[in-house]
Amino acid sequence: MMFRQLFDQTSGTYSYLLASRAGGEALIIDPVLEKVDRYLQLVKELDLKLVKAVDTHLHADHITGLGALRDRTHCITVMGEQTKADVVSMRLDDGDKLTIEGLALDVVYTPGHTDDSYSFVLPDRVFTGDTLLIRGTGRTDFQNGDPRQQYESIFGRLLKLPDATLVYPAHDYKGDTVSTIGEERAYNPRLQVKSVDEYVDLMNNLKLPNPKMMDVAVPANMKVGLAQEEIARRGWTLSAGQTLALLGQPDIALIDLRERSERERHGTIPGSLHVPYPTLQESIRSGGMLHGLAKSTSKRLLFYCAFGERSAMAVQAAQDAGLTTACHIGGGLHAWKKASGPLAR
Ligand SMILES: [Fe+2]
Repeated sequence: MMFRQLFDQTSGTYSYLLASRAGGEALIIDPVLEKVDRYLQLVKELDLKLVKAVDTHLHADHITGLGALRDRTHCITVMGEQTKADVVSMRLDDGDKLTIEGLALDVVYTPGHTDDSYSFVLPDRVFTGDTLLIRGTGRTDFQNGDPRQQYESIFGRLLKLPDATLVYPAHDYKGDTVSTIGEERAYNPRLQVKSVDEYVDLMNNLKLPNPKMMDVAVPANMKVGLAQEEIARRGWTLSAGQTLALLGQPDIALIDLRERSERERHGTIPGSLHVPYPTLQESIRSGGMLHGLAKSTSKRLLFYCAFGERSAMAVQAAQDAGLTTACHIGGGLHAWKKASGPLAR
């Protein structure tokens, strides 16, 4: 595995770049906006293809790099199911896998610092976000934080991992870079409590000032969705309702860009083809399946995904590849469900 821990001094944030091999797919956890150039330079130097940018939770102390990385690499933005961010390409839930080529991280819902906090687990390490820090824990006094939930997330989930598991948090302000589950259980002062009530008391009496960036970072991080006005203005967006009226007609080809796990959990629009977003480029270039389909028939390519972000990027890519009939369902399957569109399982 290729692994890099990157640091933003201003906010004390750690970001993590992971890949299974040089030349392969990469993902980044908790990227910081100001460091995006640095990440992309490193991705290039290591000969990687960034395919996912993930936030462990909605950050209050820095602006996320998710939107900028998506705009510059067309990668998928990922957060938890509960996030208040306007649009992320993909939302994960407890028990899901966060996957790229050659790597699958277990997705563990660990609320408490915020109600959208997740941890990501590999066999030898865990990315804990702000749930568990080195000799500390993330504050629980804003963004629907809850010390009781955090106690459960730490004691009931994270500390159940093997003692040797490496702990990589989203922040450190003292210069520590990595710890282990066993070390934190033994020496983290916040974890030396005898009961959940003692932990709640401790967390409710920290009297911390608000993060300096909070009033800027939280609203900015809630607005990370792709700008889609231009795609709509060009007539490349169909609403879920418009699509419903076209369903079953022979002149459209519905193309589902989501991953298999999303299809299994949420269902699919009946009669759609499956072309996972990471394979799109291959499929729309000359000789590819979608290229052939668009050129040999009069069918309109109608892309969809979970929330309309991958499909908007796909429309642009298909149009750029000369497939001028390409369009997408605005708002994706989320909008389709709201319009009471039928689903196949
Ligand atoms: Fe945080």
